[in-house]
Amino acid sequence: MVAHSEFNVTTSVGSYDVRIGSGGFLRSVAGTRDVVIVDSAVRAMVPQRDAPVLVVEASEHTKTLAGCERLILELRQAGVRRGDRVLAVGGGVVQDVATFVSDVYMRGLAWSYVPTTLMAMADSCIGGKSSINVGEVKNLVGGIYPPESVIIDPVFLASLSGSAIAAGLSEAVKIAYCRGPEAFNEYLWLHARFAEDPAALIEHVLLCKRWFVEVDEHDQLERRLLNFGHTFGHAVESAVDHRLSHGLAVAFGVLCAINHPLSAKGPLVNALGEHCRSLLAGAGTVDEALLGFDWERFEQAFRADKKHSADAFRLILPAPDGGVAEVETGATAKDWDVIAAVTRQTIDTALGEHA
Ligand SMILES: NC(=O)c1ccc[n+]([C@@H]2O[C@H](COP(=O)([O-])OP(=O)(O)OC[C@H]3O[C@@H](n4cnc5c(N)ncnc54)[C@H](O)[C@@H]3O)[C@@H](O)[C@H]2O)c1
Repeated sequence: MVAHSEFNVTTSVGSYDVRIGSGGFLRSVAGTRDVVIVDSAVRAMVPQRDAPVLVVEASEHTKTLAGCERLILELRQAGVRRGDRVLAVGGGVVQDVATFVSDVYMRGLAWSYVPTTLMAMADSCIGGKSSINVGEVKNLVGGIYPPESVIIDPVFLASLSGSAIAAGLSEAVKIAYCRGPEAFNEYLWLHARFAEDPAALIEHVLLCKRWFVEVDEHDQLERRLLNFGHTFGHAVESAVDHRLSHGLAVAFGVLCAINHPLSAKGPLVNALGEHCRSLLAGAGTVDEALLGFDWERFEQAFRADKKHSADAFRLILPAPDGGVAEVETGATAKDWDVIAAVTRQTIDTALGEHA
């Protein structure tokens, strides 16, 4: 492996190694007897081997209890026993399913992860969370089961669409902004060089995220700030019937948060807004998705956010000294009108810009 960098993430159950570099992926697959769980989109990248290779279609239908049951039965059929190890290769869907299944199969298999989307490389691959959909509810069940190691090889970026890259960058800039002004400015500098050196940006964003997951592994306080853009974003995803990818919906959600009257204003916030708008403009599919915006579904999904209480909306908004903070408002009809107004304003600006 031509190493770019290597660092550890500490958890309550030990620490794991994150390696970023080119060529690392092939060695990790070829040199072990691990059972491979691989995203069908990158199946061709896994070399011929004797150990089992289980192929997963990366869709939200796979990320269900039924999908996990199928995979558990495939592991059993492949003769996987306690003490064997899993190597997961794929995007966030494969990660969620592999984390969950490794956690519960015969009470736990050690697993390693090779992320293949930019979102997974720069965001989800550390933190150890699994999230599985149940019924209509996304990410309703899951746990925290960290991998033994994460191997990041930017070779996988080559086959991603522009829209998938923009979605990954949307999550990445959100993390860097949450970490503070210095981290955000460093991100902008690295973004300008992303085409030549994607590993440097990925490393920077993961080190920003590492701070949150180490200081608050179980999502009680600081890590919750990484939900920036998500209260609006999840509701927007629902309102456009998932025609906007999660990452792009987060960029849109960040713009809604910035437009909220309780958001801090200033040059940093302006730079964040400009960056998110350029990511959305570059992704190409946004205006089409927004034209079918369903306000009823938006309100339902917004109000269902786990952070809110019966009489308060809890929003993560840009803070006056950089970074973000949790802000509580009421949840009256007047408070709802503010949420609807900032969302309307964000939609109008997005559509206006793309017209
Ligand atoms: N566990 C966590 O911490 C966490 C965090 C954020 C998001 N998620 C979940 O991750 C999922 C989204 O993950 P994602 O954005 O990585 O997308 P994804 O896993 O849904 O993959 C998107 C598409 O890209 C394809 N793909 C994967 N790698 C590719 C490559 N290198 N080249 C071409 N195509 C490729 C997949 O087959 C799929 O069609 C959501 O379900 C979300 O809830 C989990």
